[in-house]
Amino acid sequence: MSGHKGGKPSVPTTKNCDEGVSNRSGHRPFEEILKARISRRSVLTGGLALAATAFFGGVGAAQSFGLGGKPGGGGGGPLLGFTPVPVAGGGGIWPRISPEYQFQVLIPWGDPIVPGGPEFKWPPTSADQEQQIGIGHDGMTYFPIDRDDKDCDVEEDEDRDRFFPLSQGRPGRGNRLGMLAINLEFGINIHVFGKPMPESLEDVRVSQHAHGVAIVKIKKKNGAWQTVKSKNARRIHINTPMAFSGPAAGHPLLQTPNGNIPLGTANNCANGVTFWGTYLTCEENFNGYFGAANAWVPTPAQQRYGFSANGFDYGWHLFDRRFDLSDPDYTNEENRFGWVVEIDPMDATQKPVKRTALGRMKHEGATTVEGRGGRAVVYMGDDEAFDYIYKFVSDGNWKSMRALGKSPLDHGKLYVARFNEDGTGEWLELTIDNPALAAQFADQGEVLTFVRMAGDVLGATPMDRPEWITVGPNGDIFCTLTNNSSRATPNAPNPVAPNPDGHIIKITDGDKHVGLTFEWDIFLLAKDTRGTEHVFTDPDGVMADPDGRLFIQTDGGQPNGLNNQMVVADTRTGEIRRLFEGVAGDEVTGIAMTPDRRTMFVNIQHPGNGNPNVTNFPVNNPVPDGETVPRDATIVITRKDGGIIGS
Ligand code: FEO
Ligand code: CA
Ligand code: CA
Repeated sequence: MSGHKGGKPSVPTTKNCDEGVSNRSGHRPFEEILKARISRRSVLTGGLALAATAFFGGVGAAQSFGLGGKPGGGGGGPLLGFTPVPVAGGGGIWPRISPEYQFQVLIPWGDPIVPGGPEFKWPPTSADQEQQIGIGHDGMTYFPIDRDDKDCDVEEDEDRDRFFPLSQGRPGRGNRLGMLAINLEFGINIHVFGKPMPESLEDVRVSQHAHGVAIVKIKKKNGAWQTVKSKNARRIHINTPMAFSGPAAGHPLLQTPNGNIPLGTANNCANGVTFWGTYLTCEENFNGYFGAANAWVPTPAQQRYGFSANGFDYGWHLFDRRFDLSDPDYTNEENRFGWVVEIDPMDATQKPVKRTALGRMKHEGATTVEGRGGRAVVYMGDDEAFDYIYKFVSDGNWKSMRALGKSPLDHGKLYVARFNEDGTGEWLELTIDNPALAAQFADQGEVLTFVRMAGDVLGATPMDRPEWITVGPNGDIFCTLTNNSSRATPNAPNPVAPNPDGHIIKITDGDKHVGLTFEWDIFLLAKDTRGTEHVFTDPDGVMADPDGRLFIQTDGGQPNGLNNQMVVADTRTGEIRRLFEGVAGDEVTGIAMTPDRRTMFVNIQHPGNGNPNVTNFPVNNPVPDGETVPRDATIVITRKDGGIIGS
């Protein structure tokens, strides 16, 4: 780690995640159904209402591909064997981890994606940044390479590299060599290039190339992880050619008057992984990168998606016309963002594909699970206050579809969730065959492009900012609802108003994930952890493991002076312990594991909010020097005794 010094991004700034409200539809207030539900919910009495679900069976998570392996012990005994990080001593400028654990920093912002590439200099050039890890480390997937753990030093023979589904768990394989696909969600201008606003197209390009996705090959050697050479390492950013697929591909709403080809992905938040070994990256707060250089009146759709004249103050539109909402040559450019994008991590020549059948929203993540009949099911949150939870179900068995040359992500049904007051719910299909939608939308392509508005029409349930979704070992679905300070009135699925601390909802989906109805319950209210040693708020990243642990990451001001953190819940007993605490001003997000679950990757995003007066992480200066720019980075977590993470 070199401690490059540069100018001082000394203006403390906040994260750009959109905490606004775009849903003004107000079509289905829950006030009337709330009272009955509240009266019966013990969770509101203040107890920590963790569902006492039996978590054995080990089938659901194995199918989810979110996390590999088989149940790893615990056998009904306590799942959390580690000493928790205490509240006392929190809020520092260096991470804290349980004493039975250790961590290593990997691929900080600005490291070359292959050894020998341009080293980090601050501020970076746009040309260098294209060959470096970008900023805003977020959702990620470790793709194990089917190679014996003892045989990882063969770096050049990449034609031997094969992905295998984590769930198939091949003992002793793929735990020390893999491709890491990682989202680079965002970095504010002052952090990335030292100015509050761009002063040239080059400034804009630096910012643009810092955003996107990185694919890097990593291996463990001599006890430490490092990047290695790979022809498949690549950077994908806002100027990378993209393909569109599915019902909205080629739609007039995705065409611009000047005919520019589709380029780029931005604000890549959480992620998913397909059964066939590709990476899903999810475009979240894309609205913030657009602005208006001249007079501009937003359309209803632009309003619903939160576009504004200044965006999030990136200023791209001042030098790159593509992002200028007032430029008539680029009408509809903004409709090309807000999609789930499929990337092949084992083939750098593949053009990333935007899968329009999954709808256009502020996608948090795309969590896959194999449903009844081998159908590909994708659960998705739309992260904005009062927005919705969605599910996609492929038309057929994913293997059969792929054998016919069809992508399971192009052909299927998209649903939005409505939660009833009695703990049941319905999946409402977003189809132009519904007369209520046909009355307002021209065709399925328009429904998908403006899917938030279609959800408004159908009466979906506005939620408290749906973030990550994970599937537990018995098939239960957990969705973090990070917070909603704008909620004035509680209702059954969002029972706290205002809700500054957030909660986690559990969904038991019908008919092995392909049904039209579901049951739900509040899994946890974060406010109930206040006053306890395991306090946390603002749940965001989340991952279930095959034993019944739930790893919960936070993004928001934490109580008791703590920094953002990662806690682990035993879903069988309700016990919670703090495994990791990040550094001042950061967010802890992104989570991936090796198939043997002995190595976990998480991220520290925007340490110090980019301010070197707060922290110099990952340079460990005990007192910040005010000059060494902090860098977002991946943290590799292992147990000192080599045990399963979380045990
Ligand atoms: Fe990028 Fe909703 O967090
Ligand atoms: Ca998030
Ligand atoms: Ca968040």
